[in-house]
Amino acid sequence: MAKERAQWTGRLGFVLAAAGSAIGLGNLWKFPYITYENNGGAFVLVYLGAIALVGVPIMVAEIVLGRRSQKNAVGAFRVLAQGKAGGQLWRGVGFLGVMTGFVILSYYSVIAGWTIRYILMAVSGELGGLAHHPADLQAFFGEFLSNPYQQILFHSLFMGATIGIVYFGVGRGIERAAKLLMPVLLTILAMLVIYSFWTPGFGEAMRFLFRPNFSELSASGVLEALGHSFFTLSLGMGAMLTYGSYMRKRDSIPRAALTICALDTIIAISACIIMFSIIFSFDFEVTKSSTILFTTLPVVFFQLPGGAFVSALFYVLVAFAALTSTISLLEVVSSYAIDELGWPRRRATLTMGAAILAFGTLSAVSMGGNAALSNINFIGRPSTAGVFGTLDYLASNWFLPVGGLLIALFTGWILSRDETREELEEGNGPLGWKFSLWRFLIRVAAPAAVGAIIVSVILGAEYQ
Ligand code: PHE
Repeated sequence: MAKERAQWTGRLGFVLAAAGSAIGLGNLWKFPYITYENNGGAFVLVYLGAIALVGVPIMVAEIVLGRRSQKNAVGAFRVLAQGKAGGQLWRGVGFLGVMTGFVILSYYSVIAGWTIRYILMAVSGELGGLAHHPADLQAFFGEFLSNPYQQILFHSLFMGATIGIVYFGVGRGIERAAKLLMPVLLTILAMLVIYSFWTPGFGEAMRFLFRPNFSELSASGVLEALGHSFFTLSLGMGAMLTYGSYMRKRDSIPRAALTICALDTIIAISACIIMFSIIFSFDFEVTKSSTILFTTLPVVFFQLPGGAFVSALFYVLVAFAALTSTISLLEVVSSYAIDELGWPRRRATLTMGAAILAFGTLSAVSMGGNAALSNINFIGRPSTAGVFGTLDYLASNWFLPVGGLLIALFTGWILSRDETREELEEGNGPLGWKFSLWRFLIRVAAPAAVGAIIVSVILGAEYQ
C-alpha cells in the first residue's frame, strides 16, 4: 500500500509555511528597489491591485490543484487532466514549474548567501568600519561579488541549510522551520517598523509610498508591478500547489490564501517603510537602487544609535525570510522526484539539492568572478548580462507568467465548475457569490492581465 501523504499538523502550519515561501528576497530586496525606481505612490497602488485581482485568485487556484490531486506539480496535472481536453499535455505545465523551481533556487541561493556574510560582518564589527565610509563599502561589495570562492562558499552554505531542512520532510522539517523562523521574522520586522517611526524621514517615506502621482508611472511600471506580484507570492511554478497538497481537507482554502497574500503584502510595505524612512532621514544619494539592501542600508544604519545591533538584526531577518522561500523551491523539485520518480525523500532532497547547488555555482561566479560567464548575454540588454541576469530574466519574465497563465486557464476552463466549487467549499462552507467572483477572476480577468504582460514582453518591455 502506498504511504499516506504527509500533512501539515494544522491550519497555522500551512499558513506559516506558505507565507514563509511568499515572504522572501522578493519583499525585502526586490520590492523596495523597484518601488524606488518607479517613484512610489502610483506604482504601489497598481501593485496592490495586481495582488488583489490576479495574485489572490491564482493563489486560490494553485492550492485547489494541489489539495484536490494530493500530488506534486507534475502529478497534479497528470491526475486532474485525465479524460479532459488537452489530456496529458497539461503535465507540461507541471514540468515547467519544476524546472522553474530548479532555476530560481540556483540563483536565489547566491543572493541569499550574501546575507550570511553580512550577518558575520555585522557581528564582528567589520560592517561598522566599512559603513562609515560609503566608498569603502561599495568597493568591498564589488570585490565580494567578484570573488568566486566566496560566492560559491556562501551559496553552498545557504543551499546546505535548505537541503538540511527539506531532508526532514513536511512536518519535522518544513513546518517546524516555518513555525520557528516566521514568528522571529515578524517580531524583528515589527521592531524595525516601530524604530522607523522615530526617524526623521518617516513622514516623507509615507508620502512617497502612499501619495499616488500617476504622471510618474510608466506603462512598463504597470506591467512590472503585475510581474512582481507572481514572484513575490511564489505563484506560477507550483510552490503553492505543492504546499497545498499537504493541506488538511478540513481547512479553508480561501481563508488561507487571503491570509498569505495579506501577510506578504504587509511585509513588502513594511520593508519599504523601514528602508525609505531610514534613507530619507539623511541627505543620502541612492546611486544604484538594486543594491540598496547591501550598500546603502548599512551606511545609514550606522549613522543611527545602535547601528551594529540594528544591522545584525536586519540581516538575520533577511536570511530567515530567504530560507523559508528556498525551502519551498527545493520542495517543489523534491516532491516531484518523490511522487513521480518514486525516490525516497532523502535521496530526492540530497540529489536534487546537490544538482541545484552545482548549477548555481554558474550564477555564483557570474557576478564578476568569471569574465566569460559574467559577460555572456543571450538577450542583449544590460540587466540580462551574465548567467545570473539571464536566468532571473527568463524566470521572472517568462516562466512564472506563462506558468501562471496556464494554471489560471486550466483551473478556470478545464476543471469543471462543480469540481472547483466542491474543493473550495470543503473546509470552508458555502461560498455563494464569492465563488462566482473568483471564477470570473480566474477565467477572464487574471488570464487577460497576465496575457497583457506576456504580449508586452514579446513586444520588448522588461520586468526586473
Ligand atoms: N516569493 C519568494 C520571494 O518573494 C520567491 C519565490 C518565488 C519563492 C517562487 C518560491 C517560488 O522572495
